[in-house]
Formats: sequence, C-alpha cells, structure tokens
Amino acid sequence: MCAWTATAEAHPNIAFIKYWGNRDHEARIPSNGSLSMNLAGLVTRTTVTFRPDLTADRLVLHGREVEGPALARVSKVLSLVRAWSGLTWHADVRSENNFPTGAGIASSASAFAALAVAAAAAAGLDLAPQDLSRLARWGSGSASRSVPGGFVEWLPGTGDEDSYAISIAPPEHWALMDCVALVSTDHKAVGSSQGHRLAEKSPFQAVRVADAPRRLDVCRDAILKRDFEALAEVVELDCHMMHAVMQTSSPRLLYWEPATVTVMQAVRRWRQEGLPVAYTIDAGPNVHVLCPQGAQEEVASRLRALPGVQDVLTAGPGGPARVVA
Ligand code: DP6
Repeated sequence: MCAWTATAEAHPNIAFIKYWGNRDHEARIPSNGSLSMNLAGLVTRTTVTFRPDLTADRLVLHGREVEGPALARVSKVLSLVRAWSGLTWHADVRSENNFPTGAGIASSASAFAALAVAAAAAAGLDLAPQDLSRLARWGSGSASRSVPGGFVEWLPGTGDEDSYAISIAPPEHWALMDCVALVSTDHKAVGSSQGHRLAEKSPFQAVRVADAPRRLDVCRDAILKRDFEALAEVVELDCHMMHAVMQTSSPRLLYWEPATVTVMQAVRRWRQEGLPVAYTIDAGPNVHVLCPQGAQEEVASRLRALPGVQDVLTAGPGGPARVVA
C-alpha cells in the first residue's frame, strides 16, 4: 500500500515571558508576545502516516488510542496540512514523550511542534520555518515556540499570517539550565486552553498585557547580554503577573501547591545569599528553577532536599523541531 510518512522530534519549552490570553481563541492569536527557551533532553517523538485506507484520523499516545478533544485538536492541524498540500488522505499519528505530561512541563508545546513538522514532511510540504511555527500554533500556542531552536520569541502579530515564533539566539548562545522541581505529576484540573479563555475576566489582564512589550525588551536584552541578574528579576515578575491574573479570574485558578511556595521562598533566599537562581511556574504546580551552567548540581541537590519535592529534571537549551526519519 502506498503511504506517506515522516517522524519528527521536538522539545518542550519554558516561557520566561508568558503567553496567557488570546485575541482569537480559534487561531490562537495571543494577547501578548512571549519568550522562551527550548528544553534539551526532554523530547516528544511523533510519526505521521497519511494512508488512503483510513476513513478518519487516528491518534495513538504511548501505545493507547485516544479520541475526543485531543484527537480533534490533532485533526485541525492535519486538516490544514491537507488544505495546504492538496492531499486528501487521513493520517495515523503515533506519539511518545520521555517526560511526565500535564503538570507544568508544556507537553502540548513539544507535541504540536513535532506533529506540525512530521505532518508537513509526510505530506511533502516544504514549508518555511515561520509557516511551520504558524501551523504548530493552531494546535497549541506555546507549540509555535518549540519549532525554532534555542531562545525563541513569539511575535504576537495581528492574525494568522504574522503570528509566529523566531529564534533570537541559538542554544549555544548561553548555557542556562532549567532545574524542574516536580512537586506533583497529577493531571491539572483546568488546562491552559480553558485558562486562556478566563484571562480577560481578571481586571489585571489588561495591565499585564499593556506592560508586556517592556518586559519582552528587558528579557530579550538580558538573554542577548547573558545577564542572569536582569533575567532573574524580569522572569519572576512576569511569572507573578500571570499568576495574579490566573488567581483573580472567575473562576479563580490557583495552580500552586504548598510545596510550590516552599520552592519559591527557598529560591529567593538562595539568591539573596549569592546563588544565581530564579524561578518561574506555568499552569501547574511544578517550579522551573533557572541557573547558569555550573550551578545546576548544587541547585538540584538543594531542591531535592526541600519537603514536597519528588524529583528534579535538569535541561539546558534545546534545538529546533526536526524531521528524524
Ligand atoms: C502558562 O500553549 O499550553 O505555559 O494554546 O491552549 O495549548 P494552548 O495553551 P498553551 O499555553 C501555555 C501557557 C503557559 C505560558 C507559556 O508557555 O507561555
């Protein structure tokens, strides 16, 4: 049987300046620009096979068939690939992560980046990097940032055509480490897609969005100059601005667990004592603790000693999403 197939790998990313809220929920045109680092070592590997005998798209995650909203989201990206390529066949999608899903390590980012790159290659499309980033964005906003490599900025744009992510520095630019303190690997109660729809309900969202270009400038500058102190300040500020919006939406979203706060307070104390560390938290309870390379072993062992920390994953800057077979 004739079939068109490709396999791609992508890394999740950690946002230093967060994406929270959309101007267009369907196309995921964000309310503000965002900036992140891809996480090397953490990988989603996805194979897409377009086949003439399939009557619908199929999704198999870690060997188990998945239907419902997750499949619908995957089909949306596949349908764009069909529209852009002229291919009419449905696809079989098989995907695996080498890290826990659903707990603040953005698995949807690596999942949809790998899907976009694999599906485009399987359909024989030769897309520009910006168009691959746009394609991934339709599946998950943060996935647009897992397509380019290293340190990545998502330019919010005004619509589908100009809302995509670009690399601002390659992974080799700065050996920054992310020590992820896992305090829970339970699946979160309110996912990001639902959370984005609640952002406008917080009176603080407008203020957060209005100040985002300034924070982006400070963060981009800190990365380009490898200025850890400046990065630490703006990353923590941006994290708290997003969680302030989450915590004042209606209904209110509180993603933190007691151990989340334990880690935040410890990191602040360590920084005051002279250890270069900073924290940030996505839509979940786990804490991403950033530090320059060289400090990660000390940071990881201190984190492991804190009550409520179950494990620590360590990742440096990762490369772009790419076809591997
Ligand atoms: C808190 O990209 O997961 O991690 O577009 O609905 O898939 P969807 O949302 P998602 O939102 C990410 C939210 C965040 C911040 C960030 O990564 O910028």
